[in-house]
Amino acid sequence: MFMRTKDQKKIVEKKMISLVKTAIAICSLCMWSTFAAAFTVDDMKWAPVPSGHQVGKDNGELSEDAIAGKTAGNEFHMVGNDCGICHSPVGKANETVFSMAGTLYKDRAGREPLKGAEIILQDVEGNVISMTTNDAGNFFTYTPIASDPQAWDETKTEAENRENPQTWRYKAWVKNGDLVTAMVTLAPVGGSSGSTTARMSCGMHHAPMNSRGALLASGFPTLDAYPATGVSFKKHVMPILKNRCKSCHLPASANPWVEYPKGTKIAYGGEVDLSAYIKDMNSEQGIMDLVNTANPDASELLTIPMLGSQHAGGASWRNTNDADYRAIRQWIAEGAKNN
Ligand code: HEC
Ligand code: HEC
Repeated sequence: MFMRTKDQKKIVEKKMISLVKTAIAICSLCMWSTFAAAFTVDDMKWAPVPSGHQVGKDNGELSEDAIAGKTAGNEFHMVGNDCGICHSPVGKANETVFSMAGTLYKDRAGREPLKGAEIILQDVEGNVISMTTNDAGNFFTYTPIASDPQAWDETKTEAENRENPQTWRYKAWVKNGDLVTAMVTLAPVGGSSGSTTARMSCGMHHAPMNSRGALLASGFPTLDAYPATGVSFKKHVMPILKNRCKSCHLPASANPWVEYPKGTKIAYGGEVDLSAYIKDMNSEQGIMDLVNTANPDASELLTIPMLGSQHAGGASWRNTNDADYRAIRQWIAEGAKNN
């Protein structure tokens, strides 16, 4: 009879363990690659916002010095700034390098920060990161964001590649109650190309007053009040479109494209120009193609960004009582003039 010595037994056990490990690795690899393969701008366009996680679970923790008020900065400072300028390995705050940070507002101009809303990221491996905004509207996290091997530089090690934010891939959403705004692109945000500096901040692109505008949540009226009649395109409608739509719906000549993965070009504004009364000649559609003066409520300008409708940019209005909605509706009912 064959007797196993202790050592032989160990070898067999080790082999079994490694077999099981390989099986798990293959399985998680296949799960990973299924998710990663579908992680393109186009596939993620209709991806539902992740749910079921603990909201705010990835909020960054403060250092003891910061809690004691002994640091030069704190969680409420630099509202609306590009946090990554300083909170980077080569910045002033190089001991607190966030993986993502920024400020959330009620409007694109960055007039009023929004507290208590959720910022959600889902990375290329499917991990969900949830942050909530603090009293200043700020949010920050140290949770790692997964790197996409497709974006790796072969001359660098795996660890170096994983550390390089330019290889991090994630979809982002802003959740304010039932309203969700999605980031259409899967931005490889992390400093200028070729840079080895880790810089991650929503404020890099979404600063108040820059071309993308501040990072904003839906559900707040653009102007304090609108007239019941005599709604003006220039005074009322254009500010709404600038605030809620223009960050994505830019003229085609402004090149609102993103290429991800390589070779797949996606117009993140769906080739719809909502930046002016007369559309850019190279854009497929403009404001006038989306209004229906005979039946204002059926205008796509109103129906597409409504909660419950399928729109890659998310929902701008909860219902037909929304003040911005009503102003645009009135303007359309009055003939959608360039007034
Ligand atoms: C001009 C540089 C600069 C900018 C921009 C900046 N910070 Fe800071 N921040 C600092 C410095 C310096 C400290 C103190 C040193 C440290 O904590 O590393 C600090 C500290 C902090 C701390 C405390 C960290 C701890 O636990 O010790 C938080 C939280 C913080 N900043 C958040 C933010 C957020 C969010 C943004 C963007 C909205 C931001 N900062 C933008 C320089 C900056
Ligand atoms: C975060 C980016 C983003 C924002 C903000 C955004 N959209 Fe969109 N929108 C898209 C993308 C991408 C598409 C194309 C895919 C789709 O059909 O949803 C689109 C499509 C549309 C369409 C459909 C055009 C067609 O005929 O297929 C309309 C209408 C539209 N948006 C109106 C608006 C309006 C009005 C606003 C502001 C209240 C707005 N969008 C804000 C990204 C955005």
